[in-house]
Amino acid sequence: MTSKAARAAKASAPDSSDRAEADTVAFDVIDGIAWVRFNRPEKRNCMSPKLNRQMMRVLDELEFREDVLVLVLSGEGTSWSAGMDLKEYFRETEAEGLPGVRRAQRESYGWWRRLRWYQKPTIAMVNGWCFGGGYGPLFACDLAFAAEEAQFGLSEINWGILPGGGATKVARELMPFRKAMYHALMGENIDGKTAAEWGLVNEALPGDQLKARVEQVAKVLMEKNPVALKAAKDAIRRVGEMTYDNAEDYLVRAQEAANSFDNHGRKEGIKQFIDEKSYKPGLGAYDKKSS
Ligand code: ACO
Repeated sequence: MTSKAARAAKASAPDSSDRAEADTVAFDVIDGIAWVRFNRPEKRNCMSPKLNRQMMRVLDELEFREDVLVLVLSGEGTSWSAGMDLKEYFRETEAEGLPGVRRAQRESYGWWRRLRWYQKPTIAMVNGWCFGGGYGPLFACDLAFAAEEAQFGLSEINWGILPGGGATKVARELMPFRKAMYHALMGENIDGKTAAEWGLVNEALPGDQLKARVEQVAKVLMEKNPVALKAAKDAIRRVGEMTYDNAEDYLVRAQEAANSFDNHGRKEGIKQFIDEKSYKPGLGAYDKKSS
């Protein structure tokens, strides 16, 4: 059998090596950080319906746990996520007809949406390949840090579709117009450094420094008032589509709503600065523990 024929035979065979649904996502909670990982390294962490369902369960389980203050999303192995699973997400669900397609879309878009409005701050730690559908969860995370050697691509055009599932929207939200257009039409990959220059991620670092930097950022977030963090992250997403006056009004109301969850924190923050002179808000966060 030629190697092309062998590959084709393998692709159409039942996937006996495939892992159980519960095993498609891994996570550990350590010192306030939930380290969540796409866990199909043998498939470069492409997103199958099983993975999408399991990720929603994991997000559900972690969202309101008191020992989780920040969530980090990364990938096992050499990949962050190679996008949608072309076999299980596209071919196999299309074989079920429209109900199958729509169900698969709901499952993937559903957890990305959940992550976009997650209760806790979230960080994408992009350790390797990040393609197509991967831009959905990438954008859903509040912050993103990448290995310089990571590779980002809207590869949809290379196999004959437009970048859907939000990927085109993500490119337009995060990149300047010309860069987004080039990225969508050319099907060329960019490395982590270029992704940072084009605005897809906050920073790119050598791969061996990535985790330490993410941990450092997570620790800073953990020192902030959690009610204020949730209000601020939602506000940054919401105000992008508002007029100035609407944003001004929304922000007044968002703060007043936040006060109903925690009216003590900001008063404590003012007290520690003005009365106790124990810190300076311009240089760091107030001490939550003494409040
Ligand atoms: N869908 C289905 N299977 C995939 C996907 C995917 N998106 N990505 C990787 N795999 C599978 C491969 O078919 C292969 O399976 P096999 O071992 O059963 O043959 C296995 O994962 C390993 O992949 P390789 O290609 O052998 O890994 P390599 O490290 O050489 O290359 C790369 C990695 C560049 C990521 C390559 O796998 C690739 O191009 N993947 C597709 C990327 C892509 O275009 N994704 C879709 C984006 S569009 C969208 O998401 C809507």
